[in-house]
Amino acid sequence: MALFTLGLLLLGASNASAAVTGNKTNTVSPVAQNCGPESANIVCIQKYGSVLPPSFYRDADPTVGYSGTEVPDDPSWKLVSTADFVVFDQNRGLELLGKTPKIQHKYLEVLNVIHEAPIYVPSLNKLFVTQDGPPGNLTNLMIDLNTDPPTINTFVTNPPVYQPTGGILHNNTIYWAIQGNNVSLPGGVQQRPGVVRVNPSTLEAEWLVNNYYGFFYGGLNDLTVDRFGDVWFTDSDYALGLGVSNMSNQNQLATYRFTPSTGETVVVEDTLAHPNGITFSRDGKTLYITDSGLETVGPDASKGAGNFYDYPIRIYFTSTNKRNVYAFDVNRTPSNGVYLSNKRSIFQSLEGSPDGIKVAANGYIVIGAGLSNGADIVDENGSVLARIQTNHPVENICWTGPELKTLYLVGIGGITRVDWDLAGPDPNNYFVD
Ligand SMILES: *[C@@H]1O[C@H](CO)[C@@H](O)[C@H](O)[C@H]1NC(C)=O
Ligand SMILES: *[C@@H]1O[C@H](CO)[C@@H](O)[C@H](O)[C@H]1NC(C)=O
Ligand SMILES: *[C@@H]1O[C@H](CO)[C@@H](O)[C@H](O)[C@H]1NC(C)=O
Ligand SMILES: *[C@@H]1O[C@H](CO)[C@@H](O)[C@H](O)[C@H]1NC(C)=O
Ligand SMILES: *[C@@H]1O[C@H](CO)[C@@H](O)[C@H](O)[C@H]1NC(C)=O
Ligand SMILES: *[C@@H]1O[C@H](CO)[C@@H](O)[C@H](O)[C@H]1NC(C)=O
Repeated sequence: MALFTLGLLLLGASNASAAVTGNKTNTVSPVAQNCGPESANIVCIQKYGSVLPPSFYRDADPTVGYSGTEVPDDPSWKLVSTADFVVFDQNRGLELLGKTPKIQHKYLEVLNVIHEAPIYVPSLNKLFVTQDGPPGNLTNLMIDLNTDPPTINTFVTNPPVYQPTGGILHNNTIYWAIQGNNVSLPGGVQQRPGVVRVNPSTLEAEWLVNNYYGFFYGGLNDLTVDRFGDVWFTDSDYALGLGVSNMSNQNQLATYRFTPSTGETVVVEDTLAHPNGITFSRDGKTLYITDSGLETVGPDASKGAGNFYDYPIRIYFTSTNKRNVYAFDVNRTPSNGVYLSNKRSIFQSLEGSPDGIKVAANGYIVIGAGLSNGADIVDENGSVLARIQTNHPVENICWTGPELKTLYLVGIGGITRVDWDLAGPDPNNYFVD
């Protein structure tokens, strides 16, 4: 029924645009049309919408998503705002969605704070999700996928850990990037940011690193583990911005490599404005890091109040700053040690700022849109294939389920579930040759 109505709208749209754009021969028209299976509201964009009727306008505020673009002279554009999936590359985009893609918006209810670090533990069939706030809260979420619908349980690790905000499963163990900095936590708990390892069955937590030669970290944002067991993490200043640290950073924002067996930490990358999400390609030869530089941490805790967040935060936006995904070659040689080279910008986020980043089984990359609603799917070289549109901001994503074809998108004020054909990598056998 809904699809039929949209079809009619589309017919009207193409006639209208033909008339309006009669003297602009190369305008893509209609720019949007329904496509693909009917199990979800899928909209294909012709030629990436590369030539729009020139009255188009998009507010530069990074929280205004791609679908917030106004294209008044092409009524077909209206399809974009209500789409579940937007497809740019019709072959690869529709293929990854599969025959019966499905989205369940705000599938699970959560507090109106940032949710992060979704980590699937196949042996338990549980999804661990962390909560960036409220300040002082030591609780995180464990979503039991063995029940239908899933059950959300809260948990506190032993010892309690404050504000993990990134992480990955490695060798059936959770590795968390911890951003909380607070020496007056409930129960006398004192903490500095760093890396913690958690046994998902016993919830026992073990600290691996919490300082750089006596300096505090600003607040680790995300991490990944390479096939040699080294932990690569980004250090940021969001902890201060979100009120889970009262300390200004003591070091530049940078990306580090930590070796658990020796305890040594070295800086590997210091050119990104705001290093954020981090992940390896399946062969371990490429490292992807997102730069959410358009977000800066400001002096006054006011942004977000009454808007997308339940309490004041200090995050400001400058749309002309970086919102890119960078790729690096990873080198490990007997003569020159471990280093990154060949930095290249492979993607500028369509909206928001690129946040959590994960690689699918086949090498495609899925990137959370940060404080904007959705996630983008790009190929290994950053070519945009499709996007998922949610009704809440998406900070990070994780595949779950027996075939790893159920994606959970976590962020602020809700968790969305997508079932599609794009499978995730086996978390315990991530690296392939
Ligand atoms: C060109 O298109 C505009 C509407 O977009 C219309 O007002 C104008 O009359 C057209 N000009 C010609 C020469 O067709
Ligand atoms: C802390 O987080 C838990 C889990 O979401 C929630 O149930 C609890 O209400 C929170 N406590 C406070 C004081 O916000
Ligand atoms: C994997 O974890 C087990 C215990 O959980 C440990 O004995 C083993 O050394 C770990 N392997 C690696 C490669 O870290
Ligand atoms: C530290 O924890 C206390 C709870 O004991 C909380 O009231 C305070 O807001 C927290 N501050 C920061 C910066 O995390
Ligand atoms: C941060 O909080 C601690 C404990 O609540 C306090 O001792 C310290 O002075 C605070 N630091 C700053 C920079 O406000
Ligand atoms: C990515 O670029 C490399 C180098 O040009 C090329 O070999 C590879 O096929 C490209 N991958 C895709 C998915 O297009």
